[in-house]
Amino acid sequence: MHETMRNELRSIPVFANVGTEHFREDELPDNPLPVIGDWILAAHAAGQQEPHAMSLCTVDASGIPSSRVLIVKDIDDDHLYFATPSDSRKGRDIAANPHVAAHFHWPEVGRQVRIVGTATDQGRAASDDDFAERGRGSRLAAHLHRPGPLPDRKAALAEFERLGSLHPGDVPCPPTWTLYAITPTEVEFWEASVDRVHHRVVYHRDSAHDGWRHELLWP
Ligand SMILES: Cc1cc2nc3c(=O)[nH]c(=O)nc-3n(C[C@H](O)[C@H](O)[C@H](O)COP(=O)(O)O)c2cc1C
Repeated sequence: MHETMRNELRSIPVFANVGTEHFREDELPDNPLPVIGDWILAAHAAGQQEPHAMSLCTVDASGIPSSRVLIVKDIDDDHLYFATPSDSRKGRDIAANPHVAAHFHWPEVGRQVRIVGTATDQGRAASDDDFAERGRGSRLAAHLHRPGPLPDRKAALAEFERLGSLHPGDVPCPPTWTLYAITPTEVEFWEASVDRVHHRVVYHRDSAHDGWRHELLWP
C-alpha cells in the first residue's frame, strides 16, 4: 500500500511548465509589490485557475501555526489586501499576533512568491466597501460564518435560505467582516528553470532607507 503510494507520487511530474521569460538581475525593480501583481496577471494569461488565491499562514497566541487559502482583493505599492471575518480562526490569530506568511504557487508558469509581514485591520469603512463589492450569494454566505461546529449541512442550507428571505434587497455587512492589509517585510520570487538552476531573488524592507534591498539566492 505504502509502496504503491510512493510510486504514484514519484511518477507525478513537477515543473511541467517552465516559463521562457525569467527575471533579469539587472532589471529588478526597487519595489517588489508591483511584481506580485504582474505575476498574478501573467499566470492568469497562461490559464492558471484562481491565480489571485494565496495561502495565508497565521500563528495563534500559543505559537501554533495554521494556513488556508484566501483571495487577494488588491495590491498597492505597500500592501496586499484580503477580507475575512475577524472572529474566524485567522482573525483571532492576527488579533493575538499580527505576523503572517503568505504564499502563491502558479504551476502553469512554474513560479512561486513567498511573503512575510504583518496584517492589520483596515477599519469599518474599508471593510464595508469591500463587502459591498461582493456578489449577492457571497454577501449572504458571509452571514453563515459562526464560531463552533455545524450540527449538519441541512442547518446551513436552511440558514442560507432564511437569510435570502430576510434580505431580499441589500444585504447588510456583518460587523465582523474585515478587510486586512498585509505589509510585507520580505518578498521572495522563485522561477523554475529547465536546467534546474532555478531563479531566486529575495527582497527585504530596508526601514533605515525607507525602501527595499534585494539579493539573489542559491537555487
Ligand atoms: C480558492 C479559495 C478562496 C478562498 N477565499 C477566501 C476569502 O477570500 N476569504 C475567506 O474568509 N475565506 C476564503 N476561503 C476559505 C478559507 O480558505 C478558509 O477555509 C476559511 O476562511 C476559514 O479559515 P480559518 O478557519 O482558518 O479562519 C477560500 C478558500 C479557497 C479554496
